[in-house]
Amino acid sequence: MSKGTVVLAYSGGLDTSCILVWLREQGYQVVAYMSDLGQDEDFDEARNKAKKLGCIEVIVDDQKQELVEDFVWPSIQGGLVYEDRYLLGTAIARPCIVRGMIKTARRYKAEYICHGATGKGNDQVRFELGCYALAPDIKVLAPWKEPQFYERFPGRNELFDYARLHDIPLPVSPKSPWSIDANMIHVSYESGILENPATFPPEGIFQMTVDPEKAPDTPQMMTINFKEGFPTSVQLTGDATLLTSPLEIFTTCNRIGAKHGVGRIDIVENRFVGLKSRGIYEAPGLTILHKAHQDLEVFCLDREVRKIKSYLSERMAEQVYNGLWYSPEFELTHKCIQESQKNVTGSVTLKIYKGNVYILGRHAPVSLYNEELVSMNVQGNYEPTDAKGFICINAVRLKEHQRVKQTMHKIQSQ
Ligand code: ARG
Repeated sequence: MSKGTVVLAYSGGLDTSCILVWLREQGYQVVAYMSDLGQDEDFDEARNKAKKLGCIEVIVDDQKQELVEDFVWPSIQGGLVYEDRYLLGTAIARPCIVRGMIKTARRYKAEYICHGATGKGNDQVRFELGCYALAPDIKVLAPWKEPQFYERFPGRNELFDYARLHDIPLPVSPKSPWSIDANMIHVSYESGILENPATFPPEGIFQMTVDPEKAPDTPQMMTINFKEGFPTSVQLTGDATLLTSPLEIFTTCNRIGAKHGVGRIDIVENRFVGLKSRGIYEAPGLTILHKAHQDLEVFCLDREVRKIKSYLSERMAEQVYNGLWYSPEFELTHKCIQESQKNVTGSVTLKIYKGNVYILGRHAPVSLYNEELVSMNVQGNYEPTDAKGFICINAVRLKEHQRVKQTMHKIQSQ
């Protein structure tokens, strides 16, 4: 008797292949789901492998466009950066994958979703909270948190034995001594030999970007246009084509950033489950887009609005990191941020050179920047004598502070 249908987040690797067979052994019908997020992967090979392992269907879901439009664009608009450095390349892809899995579950009338994330990371939280939020009736199976599963597979040797027993093709290349998560936005490297936070990233670890030291000696200039905080087009200097589709804009920034060694970081971050972990990331295109957006935003936003927006950005980044894309707090924060971006419209010109993104200039059709008002050469609608009073009144508080300090000092030395 079948226990029902399960949609498995399948990667083609050893772990999820063993999970696939194990699920069948447990009496489930399996739909293998793969999201094509632009990662460098042989989907045909993975599809054939999954078919051989006896799943009822293999889905390769091309999600590149929705990833960029529905997840990357809001995160650029929102200026989402976790703990000042991580651009959330894995975290924003998870809710996209979850959406694809839930659609698939509905199509196949599946009652279950299964993922191969472990019990110590953020990804389990993102998968599961995402599923429960979008489809409260669906149940999540997470074998790496089931004693029945992990006691049977305490190490890789047991997985290999199981694979041999069930004709699961063994990986041809040896597993890298770290864990990789890749999509078109970024590649992350964690665990294994990287767990010692003092070890340097080994030579050749990076898959996406060139070493900034080996990057071209000729810089690339480019102009990115924005409307209400969203990128709308990009133009490379020396090339007449104006690229306007989100996917084209993103892949162009990615290509240029990768070629010039932009967007590598090595950090220790705080996981939602309470652990600190070391991660090495590369996100070339996203880095360029974030820098350009940030420059235009400061140019366009009112000073006080910018402060509130930056608080909201931090909250939203935390929500995304913690797997709360589909949450009421995210909805509210996202709406407020969209409201703040109404006049973040204009263009920024950049120079990309040896791992850096230099801002060369910016332009906005309408902005709070008033060249005449700020000019040293023109008085404009600004009375310098007013500044005298402004400073005097602001000094009242500072003078009072000094008075109290001196009084305290006197009392203490008596
Ligand atoms: N630490 C990053 C994050 O939580 C990257 C996680 C990568 N995931 C993986 N399964 N290797 O977003």
